[in-house]
Amino acid sequence: MRAKNKASGSTAGAEFLDKNAGQRRQLLKSSVALGGLATGLGAATSSLAASTAPEKLITEVQDWNRYLGPGVDAKPYGQPSVHEADAVRRDVAWLTADAKSSVNFTPLHKLDGIITPNGLCFERHHGGVADISPADHRLMINGLVKTPLIFTMEDISRFPRENHVYFLECAANTGMEWRGAQLNGCQFTHGMVHNVMYTGVRLRDVLAEAGVSPKGKWILPEGGDAAHMTRSIPMEKAMDDCLIAFKMNGEALRPEQGYPLRLVVPGWEGNMWVKWLRRIEVGDQPWHQREETSKYTDLLADGQARRFTWTMDVKSVITNPSPQAPITHGQGQTVLSGLAWSGHGRIKRVDVSIDGGRHWHTARLDGESLNKSVHRFYYEFNWQGQELFLQSRAIDESRNLQPTKDALRAARGENSIYHNNGIQTWHVRADGSAENVEVS
Ligand code: MTE
Ligand code: CO
Repeated sequence: MRAKNKASGSTAGAEFLDKNAGQRRQLLKSSVALGGLATGLGAATSSLAASTAPEKLITEVQDWNRYLGPGVDAKPYGQPSVHEADAVRRDVAWLTADAKSSVNFTPLHKLDGIITPNGLCFERHHGGVADISPADHRLMINGLVKTPLIFTMEDISRFPRENHVYFLECAANTGMEWRGAQLNGCQFTHGMVHNVMYTGVRLRDVLAEAGVSPKGKWILPEGGDAAHMTRSIPMEKAMDDCLIAFKMNGEALRPEQGYPLRLVVPGWEGNMWVKWLRRIEVGDQPWHQREETSKYTDLLADGQARRFTWTMDVKSVITNPSPQAPITHGQGQTVLSGLAWSGHGRIKRVDVSIDGGRHWHTARLDGESLNKSVHRFYYEFNWQGQELFLQSRAIDESRNLQPTKDALRAARGENSIYHNNGIQTWHVRADGSAENVEVS
């Protein structure tokens, strides 16, 4: 097994490496200390290093057990434990010139289950976060309709509502990895995805209220932010499963996610999910806006570009262990976990390999298996301390199989940024630390 070198030219990538190296040394030290305490618990559980020795943390009364804590209302809006300060969105400073047209990343390695907490959903803005009072917000439907209409938020809330869990993935997710392993952590390589439950109304009901003309074949949703984000969406999709959402995970949309209204375009690239939705024009052809010509297209080796590649293909990533989440418990039972998703529907199966794709094992899909949502998978194995090359590959219900990165490059060349759903590899060393690599 040969680990390919990292792509050259990124000093900031090396920064992540250095930071992690320090963290790794620290983790190595503490696992040695723990090893001194640990004794075996017999054959059945010997791979779990639980301790039989008495220790102060369990035999003595601790402060938090002795004194009263803060009462109710200390925090009218609850926050995570102070011990979870590391579970935050992060950006990569050198990726973009200005935070107002930039991206940060979901800390996938800190999460479990399938729901992304609202405060941890990655953000992608082209003109900063619009600050809109719902009382002042309006949604207009115009163009090829019988009656152009303007809705208030209250008008929207009177349509029948639906709740659905959907993933949103930016087409640029994993984009830095086209030319080789680059960013050290699944937060940075795969963190432009989030998965929440939306409450909203069906787009087709709202369009029907205005009465779409038989000539209306496309819609152009427009954002109320300074970027005026616009994208052409075919009428079939608009009439199928699109939602106009006003809640996420039960509470109002966060400003970063488009408060007070956003378009939900299940399974399709994140750029089409227009935030701060203020207008939907109906037309008879696509508009060929910036975001569907110069951006979000894939330039192939022969100079031709793939366009209108809306559906996000089947993809998966191991979130633990990973570069930001090394193995710290030493040898023995190890829980591998990750996420899989497909814009084509449900995930049917996820395979994992610990030896760089030589042998594959079927992972355990756990929890709900929802349409166009992320799925959680686990694989428990007995780590002997050998170096690992961790990979996962997902298969969706339409039998699409996640490709290798080499297969993707063979098909699309090396010019691309968007739509990289190739198989990710993490190299885990004997000390438990992990790094982003490619294998051949
Ligand atoms: N909508 C508006 N109005 N303005 C934007 O900048 N960014 C798009 C899309 N919708 C954007 C927008 C892009 S590229 C993506 S990936 C998603 O919103 C990101 O959604 P999020 O910030 O909720 O993660
Ligand atoms: Co995007």
